[in-house]
Amino acid sequence: MARPLATFLRSSTFRLSLFYVALFFLSVGALLAFIYVQAIATIDRETEQGTMVDAAALIQEYSAQGIAGLIDAVEDRVAPDRAGEGLYLLEDEDGAPLAANIHAWPNAEPDARGWIAFTVDRDDGPHQARGQTYALKDGSKLLVARDLRARLDFQGLMLDALYYASALTLVLGVGGGLLISRRMLNRLGAINRAAERIMTGDLTHRIATSGSNDEFDRLSDALNAMLEEIRRLMSGMRTVTDNIAHDLRSPLTRMKGRLEMLLREAPDSEAQRLAIERTIGDADQLLATFTALLSIADAESGSARATMTALDLGALAADIVDLYGPAAEERMIAMLYDEGQGTVVGSRQLLFQALANLVDNAIKNTPDGGTISLAVERRAGEVRLVVADTGTGIPEPDRDRVLEPFVRLDNSRSTPGSGLGLALVAAIARLHGAKIELSDNRPGLSVSLVFPSAG
Ligand SMILES: Nc1ncnc2c1ncn2[C@@H]1O[C@H](COP(=O)(O)OP(=O)(O)OP(=O)(O)O)[C@@H](O)[C@H]1O
Ligand SMILES: [Mg+2]
Repeated sequence: MARPLATFLRSSTFRLSLFYVALFFLSVGALLAFIYVQAIATIDRETEQGTMVDAAALIQEYSAQGIAGLIDAVEDRVAPDRAGEGLYLLEDEDGAPLAANIHAWPNAEPDARGWIAFTVDRDDGPHQARGQTYALKDGSKLLVARDLRARLDFQGLMLDALYYASALTLVLGVGGGLLISRRMLNRLGAINRAAERIMTGDLTHRIATSGSNDEFDRLSDALNAMLEEIRRLMSGMRTVTDNIAHDLRSPLTRMKGRLEMLLREAPDSEAQRLAIERTIGDADQLLATFTALLSIADAESGSARATMTALDLGALAADIVDLYGPAAEERMIAMLYDEGQGTVVGSRQLLFQALANLVDNAIKNTPDGGTISLAVERRAGEVRLVVADTGTGIPEPDRDRVLEPFVRLDNSRSTPGSGLGLALVAAIARLHGAKIELSDNRPGLSVSLVFPSAG
């Protein structure tokens, strides 16, 4: 479970959505912060202006009506039925209150613009306030201020809203991002799985589309069209190769038959006999090549899939040892097989052919008195079939190349063969989902076919 999660977190869709979530979060945050700062500034400005207009009206009253008029005006404002945010304190020159809803002159220094910030005790506890003080001509002092409780409450509400909105944005953003990237990854995963299935040889498989005609559908359609074209070309080529091999086989067989007849009817000279024998040998070689080509085409077409069953590679190897034992013995090559067991799902006929090709190569490339060892090992979900010899071996740089059709190394020029044996082994391995590994047996070659185990 850990691996798919890690893969998911490393995926570019997830990173992209994470990036968008961050961007989204930052822009929403910036927008909210802007609204917050603007709202607070507006309220502050209005409170300030309200205070100043109120104070100007009172000073005006004082100029027109004197201290008595001012006392009336302040008393009017502090009347219980008008109690609002306005705070007032009018004191005479001795500091005795003349009219007020604040009980004591605040002990605060005015700022550069003449504003003082202070705390007043009200019924429900201390409130913050802000206002201006005025020294009047007759020695009395006036304080006009505003209770900031409502403004601070509003600020608290705004801040709460800001936090909740940010948290919600983050949750929605991350949730949405996860959902979107999961969806994208699922679609990509489906395409990937289809591609893997096609690569194992099922060229008729197609990528499913969702029917929404989105980018993924269009990508799938394009890939499907490409696959169809490849399948068409390949089946065309296969038909041509198959037909050539097929059609040439019959006349070749007839030619060989006639040559054999000629040989039996006692040729005129030894030279003629030798020529006929060599021609028969060439015809055999050609027939073997055609047969091998047809077998490769057959393995690659995947038609053998229908007849695959669970079978024991150990038993198959034992049969091969029986079959090739005499040929090896003739050249004093020891054929060792340490009986093993390993079940795979496969075509018995093709696997037999592959193993025969490997043993045939080993015998051809091992000097008299050498050793060929076979082994079937089962470990951690795989079955390993190994054919190792003490022959000439294949140099590292040639090990991939020899798996291709018609590739024969220089030291094999003198032995008969068409260079198709390993190509057929490779095609059969591919059909069975097996890996083919060539390694140094010091001396000699070791070929391993690694199959997925079938239990
Ligand atoms: N066991 C081996 N030791 C050394 N060289 C090998 C061995 N098996 C294969 N080779 C080299 O790889 C080449 C390709 O092998 P492959 O089986 O495809 O062709 P071939 O044996 O020459 O011909 P064919 O198998 O068609 O009769 C061989 O020509 C040989 O040079
Ligand atoms: Mg061979």
